[in-house]
Parts: sequence; structure tokens; C-alpha cells
Amino acid sequence: MKVKRNYLGKVGCIVENRLVPFDLECGQRIFVTRVRGGLRAFSLHCPHMQADLVRQGKAVDCMLICGAHGYVYSLDSGENIKAPGTEARTGPLKSFDLVQEGDDLFICY
Ligand code: FES
Repeated sequence: MKVKRNYLGKVGCIVENRLVPFDLECGQRIFVTRVRGGLRAFSLHCPHMQADLVRQGKAVDCMLICGAHGYVYSLDSGENIKAPGTEARTGPLKSFDLVQEGDDLFICY
């Protein structure tokens, strides 16, 4: 399988506790964020009921809280670490590999 690679922009645009959205050439929507100095890329849609995590999510202390129903995800691993009330946990955020070349950032998928 051939791996595609998209240029995203300059690494310096990605900061802690900020979710930066990108539309990939394949139509997939993702966000990139910085966690403990490292860069992470995930699908923009919440695994619970597909809410837009950039519009409805909030990044706090390396976690992402989806504002639609309150599910909480690790921004290190994408794992769903907390569900609201007695709800069952859901699957993880879909993650993507990033490649940094100098100040330029690329995503592989
Ligand atoms: S859609 Fe994100 S918690 Fe329900």
C-alpha cells in the first residue's frame, strides 16, 4: 500500500492546548496539537458520535474533552480515558503519523 504525504505547514504554528484543523487531500479532516513538546495528529471527529472536536472540544493538561457529551481522550495516545456518568467508554481517536523536516510538518496516511 502506498503511503500518501501532505504538507501541513510550519511546526511553529502548533502549540500546547490548541487544536489546529487541516483538510487532507483525501478528504479526511484532522487536527494537530502539541503535547509535552511532541506533535500529535488525530481525526477531527469524536469516536462517540462524530462531533467536530476542534469546534466542540477543549484541550486541557494533555487531555481533550469533547463538549458534545463529555467524553475525555488522552492527547498522548488518543485513548478514551473517561466517559460521562455510567456510559461505556468508546474507541480511541484515530491517530496519524507526522514527519518533521526542519520547520516543515507533513502527515502520512
Ligand atoms: S460526540 Fe464527542 S462525546 Fe459524544
